[in-house]
Amino acid sequence: MPITIKNLTHVYMPDSPFEAKALKDISLSINDGEFIGIIGHTGSGKSTLISYFNGLERGKPGTVLVNGIDLGDKDADLIAVRRTVGLVFQYPEYQLFEETVAKDIAFGPTNLGLDADEIEKRVVKAMHMVGLDADKAKKSPFDMSGGQKRRVAIAGVLAMEPQILVLDEPAAGLDPAGRQEMLELISDIHKSGVTIVMVSHSMDDVGRYCDRLFVLSHGEIAYQGTPAEVFVHGEALNAIGLDVPECAKLAARLREAGFDIPEGVYRMDDVADAILENLGKGRTADA
Ligand SMILES: Nc1ncnc2c1ncn2[C@@H]1O[C@H](COP(=O)(O)OP(=O)(O)OP(=O)(O)O)[C@@H](O)[C@H]1O
Ligand SMILES: [Mg+2]
Repeated sequence: MPITIKNLTHVYMPDSPFEAKALKDISLSINDGEFIGIIGHTGSGKSTLISYFNGLERGKPGTVLVNGIDLGDKDADLIAVRRTVGLVFQYPEYQLFEETVAKDIAFGPTNLGLDADEIEKRVVKAMHMVGLDADKAKKSPFDMSGGQKRRVAIAGVLAMEPQILVLDEPAAGLDPAGRQEMLELISDIHKSGVTIVMVSHSMDDVGRYCDRLFVLSHGEIAYQGTPAEVFVHGEALNAIGLDVPECAKLAARLREAGFDIPEGVYRMDDVADAILENLGKGRTADA
């Protein structure tokens, strides 16, 4: 299992008036090839949790294993871990600094000590993966739009060829079209064989793309499972500051009203199919 966490606890500024218990006894595991969503209210511990995935944070009570490497071990091979797990921070475009797109993307692979040909190959491949035209390579990232800059930043992490890509709110701050494009891009990266962990505020987004969700509330995993399994807890999710997708709400209302809508139906197309099926049955009954 690429990532396994057992009984992880994280306290910011312990024994001070500012003490914040960000993670409380978290255990989880992530399998190869999954598209995982981590969702929760502001301050629920999402960013703190993912900072453990590549060893940025470590040494707190609990065990974090990445491909069997114990990050609590002071001799842990952190370079191997950071090659395995690529972390894209929230608003990663603020961390671009090189004068051209190609140089920025090449930064990580260069630090790995790869030869020039291999670096060039990775830059070209990463630009292609994030949908940036080759003619952008020599451009300054600072002349690009916000969405394009974010693609450059993601390409820089992809150029390290991670097995697992972890993204903290990758669609935050983008307009609706930009959000959609970003999510499709991440979905394509997933289809290319990369395991994805995506932190999000949007139940609609994680419902559409993720195989499995962890719902955090006040530093604990409140719910986990497939989106269908999680969305069943509609009211309880409301109580912890989250909303189920609009289509899941519609399905629940119709179910309450006596329509035959199966549990676990929450995608727009599936809800539409279920409604049509009910209408079809209605017509048959009338005939
Ligand atoms: N550097 C820090 N020092 C002190 N407390 C912190 C620090 N970073 C986070 N916290 C606290 O830890 C808790 C978890 O924060 P975290 O940033 O992990 O949450 P989050 O779910 O990512 O929130 P958001 O949705 O706002 O990004 C919060 O109570 C927060 O105030
Ligand atoms: Mg956060």
